[in-house]
Amino acid sequence: MKIAVVGAAGMVGSRVVDEATSRGHDLIAVYRTQRPTALPPNVTAVEGDANDPDRMRTLFDGTDAIVATTRPAPGHEHTLAATTTTLLDAATTTRTRILVVGGAAPLHMPGRPDRLVLDSPEYVPAQWRTIAAASAAQLEACRAHHADWVYLSPPAVLEPGRRTGKYRRGTTTLVADADGASRISAEDLAVAVLDELEKPREIKHFTVGY
Ligand SMILES: NC(=O)c1ccc[n+]([C@@H]2O[C@H](COP(=O)([O-])OP(=O)(O)OC[C@H]3O[C@@H](n4cnc5c(N)ncnc54)[C@H](OP(=O)(O)O)[C@@H]3O)[C@@H](O)[C@H]2O)c1
Repeated sequence: MKIAVVGAAGMVGSRVVDEATSRGHDLIAVYRTQRPTALPPNVTAVEGDANDPDRMRTLFDGTDAIVATTRPAPGHEHTLAATTTTLLDAATTTRTRILVVGGAAPLHMPGRPDRLVLDSPEYVPAQWRTIAAASAAQLEACRAHHADWVYLSPPAVLEPGRRTGKYRRGTTTLVADADGASRISAEDLAVAVLDELEKPREIKHFTVGY
């Protein structure tokens, strides 16, 4: 597959590029300010701002899948939904499936279907509340859009780590272990992204975790 990764220099984007290239896919690694380093030969690194619709349409033309992994800088969280809509618009024009790596906030709490992770301080402490609310708005922007999208909510904790190749998959409820810990490495999240792209399911919103 030819896959465009937007936000390719970021924590998630760089792992998605690595996982995809290790599986033999051709990559367009779209970065804004920081060119990704040490790229394998089947990766083309290109500059592009996700808020530039013409540029995104041009870059998505001829791709089989798009992965959106942008994250706004602190203070700009309110831009996340609009940026995502620009990417969804471009993906619609090029008729390309788009996987959005979003947030855990719009998931339901385990055993508490009436409560969102967003409203659960045990998973979303005050300092994450703004980006968490932005990711909930981001999912709403996807739901309102007619693009061929799929939204991946990470577990509560997503950080660089080890690739185990193993994870559990859920739908709209946070995946947590018996002690309530909800986590995955960015490497294994990338495995889940590529598994979904290679074998798409009907589910529009899914999550993963250990
Ligand atoms: N538990 C959770 O729910 C959880 C935890 C972590 C991350 N996430 C989500 O996962 C996604 C990826 O996060 P991350 O941790 O990988 O973020 P990150 O490391 O901060 O990387 C984000 C990347 O997006 C790029 N970017 C931002 N705006 C852009 C734009 N307009 N055009 C092009 N590139 C742009 C940034 O480039 P610049 O350097 O140019 O700004 C950066 O390289 C986000 O949606 C984030 O909210 C969720």
